[in-house]
Amino acid sequence: MTEHVKTEIADGVLTLTMQRPDKKNALTGAMYNAMSDALKQAEADASVRVILFQGDGDSFTAGNDLADFASQARGEGTVDSPAHRFIETISKVGKPIVAAVQGNAVGVGTTMLLHCDLVYLAENARLITPFVNLALVPEAASSWLLPLRIGHARAYAMFALGEPMDAAGALASGLANAVVPQADLRKKAHDAAVALTKRPAGSLSLTKRLMREHQRIAAQIAEESVLFKERLTTPEAREAFAAFAERRPPDFSKL
Ligand code: COA
Repeated sequence: MTEHVKTEIADGVLTLTMQRPDKKNALTGAMYNAMSDALKQAEADASVRVILFQGDGDSFTAGNDLADFASQARGEGTVDSPAHRFIETISKVGKPIVAAVQGNAVGVGTTMLLHCDLVYLAENARLITPFVNLALVPEAASSWLLPLRIGHARAYAMFALGEPMDAAGALASGLANAVVPQADLRKKAHDAAVALTKRPAGSLSLTKRLMREHQRIAAQIAEESVLFKERLTTPEAREAFAAFAERRPPDFSKL
C-alpha cells in the first residue's frame, strides 16, 4: 500500500487501484514507482496469476501529472524517469493484465491499455492521447501499437488533434472487450481476471509472449523516449504546460 496506489492480492489477482480522484488520478512519480514495483513483485510471486488495473473516482487516470512535466521541462527531472520505468515495466509483464476504465483515460492512461490483455470500459469512458497538443510525442510504443490496432488515420487524429475516442468507438475498433454500465464495471473486469486465474498459467504466459513482439515494442519505446525527453524541454512544451496550469488555451503561433 503506497499513497495514491492501493495494491491488494486476493484469489490470485493483484488489483492496483489508482487513488488520487481529486486530481483525476493524474500520475505522480511516486505512483508510477509504486505501480512498477508492484508489477515486478507480481511477476515473481506465484500467488499472483493476473493483474488488474482500476482507478477511483470519475476518471481512470488523467495521465502524467502535468506539474511534474512542467518541472521536467525546467530541467528538474531525472533522466530515467518513473514514468519511463513504468512504461518499460508494463510492456514486459508476462502475466495477463486486465483493465477497468471509466471516464477519462488520458495519455499514458490510454497508452498503457495497449499493454493490457483484456480491457473493459464503462459507457462514459473516453480515450485521449493529446501528445501533440502538449507539444510532446506519443510514448509507450503507442506510435506503433495504436496505428497497428486502429489504423493510421484514426490514430493520427487521436495523437495530432487530441480527438477523444468514446467507449463505443474503442469497442468497435478493437481496443476493448466490452462496454458496460459504470455500476457493473469493476465486477465485469474482476470476473474476467478471476476466470484467467483458472487457466493454466504456463500456457497463458506463452500465448501472451507469442502475441506480443517484445523486441519491436522495446525498440519503439527507446526511440520515442529520446524524442519525448527532448520535447519536454522545448519552448513549445513549456507553453503547453503553462497554459494548462493557467487554464487558458496554449499559443504556439510565435514559437
Ligand atoms: N496533471 C495534474 N493535475 C491534473 C491533471 C494532470 N494530468 N489532470 C487533471 N488535473 C487536476 C486539475 O488541475 C484539477 O486540479 P484543481 O482542482 O486543483 O484545479 C483537478 O485535477 C480536476 O481537473 P479538471 O480539469 O478540473 O477536471 P475536468 O473534469 O474538467 O477535466 C480532464 C478532466 C482529465 C479532461 C482534464 O483535467 C485534463 O485535460 N487534464 C490534463 C490531461 C493531460 O493532458 N494529461 C497528460 C497526458 S500526456
